[in-house]
Parts: sequence; C-alpha cells; structure tokens
Amino acid sequence: MTPVVDSYAVIGNPIAHSRSPWLHAAFAQQTQQAIRYDRCLLPTDGFAQGLSQLRDNGLMGCNVTVPFKGDAFALAQWHSPAALLAQACNTLWWDGQTLKADNTDGVGLVRDITYNAGVQLSGQRILIVGAGGAAAGIVGPLIAAGCGHIHMANRTAHKAHDIIERHQLMAGQHGCTLSASALDALHVPPSQHETPAAKLSSFDVIINASAASLGGQRIALPSALVHSRTLAIDLMYGPSSRVFLDWANAQGCATRDGLGMLVEQAAQSFFIWRGVMPSTAGVLAQLRAMVDAPCD
Ligand code: ATR
Repeated sequence: MTPVVDSYAVIGNPIAHSRSPWLHAAFAQQTQQAIRYDRCLLPTDGFAQGLSQLRDNGLMGCNVTVPFKGDAFALAQWHSPAALLAQACNTLWWDGQTLKADNTDGVGLVRDITYNAGVQLSGQRILIVGAGGAAAGIVGPLIAAGCGHIHMANRTAHKAHDIIERHQLMAGQHGCTLSASALDALHVPPSQHETPAAKLSSFDVIINASAASLGGQRIALPSALVHSRTLAIDLMYGPSSRVFLDWANAQGCATRDGLGMLVEQAAQSFFIWRGVMPSTAGVLAQLRAMVDAPCD
C-alpha cells in the first residue's frame, strides 16, 4: 500500500521552469519529512476555482508565484503582518477551515544578504528599483533588518509612493526613513533634490526588483548611485539577472542574483508548513551548480 503523504504544490502560470519542487524535495529528504510537492499550472483567471479543487484533493498548503500572488492575498482569510504590508503572498496553508497567507520573499532576501553574503543591513542605504509585487514584498523585512534609509524608484512613480506610504508607520517604529520617486528622478543631480530624505546620493545596496530585463531592457542608472562597496542584487537568476548585474559589475559593485533568496524563501515556507527549518547552505550550493551547468 502506498503511504499517505502530505501534499503541497507551487501554483503559477507559467510554472514549468519552477525550481520549487526540487527545493522542497531536498528539504524533505534532509529533515525526513514525508511530503509530496507538485507543480500546478492554472489558467490566469482560474486561481480561486483551481485552488478549491486542489484543496478537495487533499492539498495542505502551496507556494504561489506569478501572476497569482495578488489573487492569493485576496482569497486568504488570515494574513501575516508581512503579507498585509506587501498585499501579496507566496505561501498559503489551511489551519482547519481557515486559509492563511504569508509572504516569505522578503525574509528570504534578508537572510540571503546577511547570512549567505555576510553583509550587515543595519543603518544601510537601500535603493529598490521597481514597485510591483516583488518590490512590495521586500520593504517590510528590510525595515525590520535595521536599514537606515530605503528609496523606491519606479517607472510609474505613484506605485512606488503607494508602497512606501503603507510602510511609513513600521519604518518610524524602526528608525528607518523612506522615500519614493520616478525612475527618471534618479538622474537628477543630488544638489537639485527638494527634500533631504530624498537625496539620491550613493547607496550601499541596490536591488533590481523590476521586470525590465525580462523584456531584454536594461535599467539605466547613473554611476553616481554606487560607491566602492555597493552590493547590487537582482531578484531574478539565470540570464535575466545578467542584464542588470553586468552593468553593476562594470561599475565595480559586488553582485548577487536571486538564487539565494529563492532558496531562503522556500526554506521559510517549509518551516511554516512543517515546523522544522531546513539548513540551506548545501541546497543552495547544489542548486547553483545545476543552474550554472552548461546546457547540452
Ligand atoms: P513582479 O511581481 O515580478 O514584481 P509586476 O508586479 O508586474 O511583477 O511588476 C513589474 C515591475 O517592473 C514594475 O515595477 C514595472 O514598472 P511599472 O510599475 O512602471 O509597470 C517594472 N518594469 C517592467 N518593465 C520595465 C521597464 N522596461 N523599465 C522599467 N521598469 C519596468
């Protein structure tokens, strides 16, 4: 008889590329948890119905990726503080009849920067480029990590202002200042900036959370935004991350792609579901080797 195992999945569209099944299989093996974890493609207008069917078939929890993070937020009946601030979530689970939601992306990024890259965020000046779901998910955890100032710049300025506005209370409690602008404003010389909080001189960490490189477009940033120890991070990995990271390398920045964040956010989801935290260093090294392996 086949043993009954707890069932999880990653839901998205597209989903064939997802590394999450491999990651969770590695965590399950390491922690000796009997689970299965599948990929699930749902039609872009069919998240609620698809999730309900998966639940009827025994699903206990899931990761949610593009384009469903907002749908998952809207459907959940309980939200973690991180999910509430992000208004998007990547981790769902049922507690009895209650569908609960968290967003582990930001925690994953902070752990990757501090533990894996060994960069302390306390008091640091952070520039986030982009104001979509990915950008929204990282602001709260960066504030909680003790960052000194966070500026969000986006092609469509009001989206950056909206995200920054809803984080102001938390930022004040942590002694972090926030500002937002259009992407174009990054090109205005610091001497012409209107308010001190918005001074766009060099940043300690620059995070590309935009989807520009998916369309092959490079975000054009002035080199005055970096200094000799700036860390540049792209939340993507693989060829998509290179567009931004090659520019950053040329400026002399240390660079990091999103693979470490991917592993760390998955570990946090696994912890939420199973109550046990997998260790990530070996899993990240293995995944790095797989991603960097030359194609046949
Ligand atoms: P995700 O969930 O990956 O964050 P998203 O919510 O669609 O995806 O957000 C994509 C982000 O990339 C947005 O901030 C978008 O800018 P707009 O808000 O102006 O649309 C940004 N983006 C996409 N293409 C871009 C480009 N060519 N140049 C600059 N920013 C771009």
